[in-house]
Amino acid sequence: MPSFKSGMQAQGWPQDVGIIALEIYFPSQYVEQHELEEFDAVSQGKYTIGLGQTRMGFCSDREDINSLCLTVLSRLMERTGIGYENIGRLEVGTETIIDKSKSVKTVLMQLFEDSGNTDVEGIDTTNACYGGTAALINAVNWVESSSWDGRYAVVVAGDIAVYAKGAARPTGGAGAVALLIGPHAPLVLERGLRSSHMCHAYDFYKPDLSSEYPTVDGKLSIQCYLSALDSCYATYCRKSDVTKSASASSMSLEVLDAMLFHSPYCKLVQKSLARLALNDFLRASPDSVSTKYPGLEAFREKRLEDTYFDRDVEKAFMANSMPTFEAKTKPSLLVATQVGNMYTPSLYGSLAGLISSHTVSSLAGKKIGLFSYGSGLAATMFSIKVSTDTSPGMPLAKLVTSMANLRDRLESRVKVNPQAFAQIMQLREDTHHKAPYVPVGDVSILFPGTWYLTGVDDKHRRQYERLPLLPSSNAHPGTSQILNKEAPVPSLAIGAATI
Ligand code: ACO
Repeated sequence: MPSFKSGMQAQGWPQDVGIIALEIYFPSQYVEQHELEEFDAVSQGKYTIGLGQTRMGFCSDREDINSLCLTVLSRLMERTGIGYENIGRLEVGTETIIDKSKSVKTVLMQLFEDSGNTDVEGIDTTNACYGGTAALINAVNWVESSSWDGRYAVVVAGDIAVYAKGAARPTGGAGAVALLIGPHAPLVLERGLRSSHMCHAYDFYKPDLSSEYPTVDGKLSIQCYLSALDSCYATYCRKSDVTKSASASSMSLEVLDAMLFHSPYCKLVQKSLARLALNDFLRASPDSVSTKYPGLEAFREKRLEDTYFDRDVEKAFMANSMPTFEAKTKPSLLVATQVGNMYTPSLYGSLAGLISSHTVSSLAGKKIGLFSYGSGLAATMFSIKVSTDTSPGMPLAKLVTSMANLRDRLESRVKVNPQAFAQIMQLREDTHHKAPYVPVGDVSILFPGTWYLTGVDDKHRRQYERLPLLPSSNAHPGTSQILNKEAPVPSLAIGAATI
């Protein structure tokens, strides 16, 4: 049991609250976006260059939101070795709804049964891709509040992002993240530096409760995303400038070592970074414009709200911000381009990608900006300060080590051709919410340690089993497909692994 609480009583306020450990799960199969272009008979380059996507992860009928979250939470707990009795709050962010009343959080409580711990606050939070960030804010606020009992909080964010056939389908994806939250974290959420923008919009929503597919106004969703970005950045800059020391620079992209975004598709992220450069340009003092933004002076009179689809502005600032994009944002897009939009975990998949691109010493002390967006709409910008303690065995070193094989894990997935992908999408569409139902998807292609759906009974109650972990104690799912492919499907894999 951690002794944070006594530390807090001694010092009066828990210090350095943030993300202590991170786990990410994505499906074991993917479709190549360039093959999908051919299959969908769109022009070559539309998905790969136009949207900036390389591959798209997807689930068969063997996985649902419960199984994704069971898998990622199990892996976080196994990797960190923290007992379930040491979790005092569990928050789930998701927009993948399979039960209108019963939360995913309550399904995850099955993992706590052996520990006897039922004293766990938190529940699901939903608003499109934003729920994971709302869950993170709730968890951090709990640790910083008088309600905190000294235990850790865990945030789980997961979604299956699937679209009907058509222009939006290549912007799908699936996955889950789990974040361990507490004091003395290697990734500290900066206090007082959080800005939000919330308003009403019908850009993307799911009014048809019998379907997994959203109703999407693609162009409006892009405009909403960019306007929320402008608003959050303006407020973040204001708060940052108010709290900065006299000697510190005013807020701009230069102050950040990395800038991460919710990533519906990577091209929008590149445009978003350019958008922040445009914001900096419009805020810059007149005398700095010609040196920092040569050739762009003509855009000085532009108003942000008139520029969402202004090609000249977009082109100019994408070119101007290209070196910043390459250095501060592109390294975070590994998961986004390889898996696609994971919805709520998307931003935290970018955090995983960023960590995987660093060594402990190159990540230490960095300041990371993050922008979270959920249609409908809810958006927040916040920042993380990375610990400077690079000692082996300390949380930062463990975190970096835990993400070191991310690229290998992505490479170990199974490629599926677009025709088979379309058939699996059709199967999901035909059987979504069917009861009773026995899934037919191939279990042998799942990563070791994956929870999967075994059946839905006539009362819509779902049962799950888990594939065995790799033999090595802390091996990660995805490090050996062959072992998994040869493994028999167990009925009881580890402990009470049938639930
Ligand atoms: N080579 C290179 N680029 C190409 C090619 C080609 N052969 N063909 C098209 N393109 C470019 C287009 O010029 C366009 O670029 P631009 O964005 O710079 O204008 C881009 O590819 C997309 O093509 P469009 O025809 O403009 O758009 P499309 O009708 O394919 O729809 C959209 C794209 C709106 C993103 C759609 O996939 C969608 O609705 N997705 C879901 C909604 C979404 O993700 N919204 C983002 C925020 S909300 C959220 O997170 C869910």
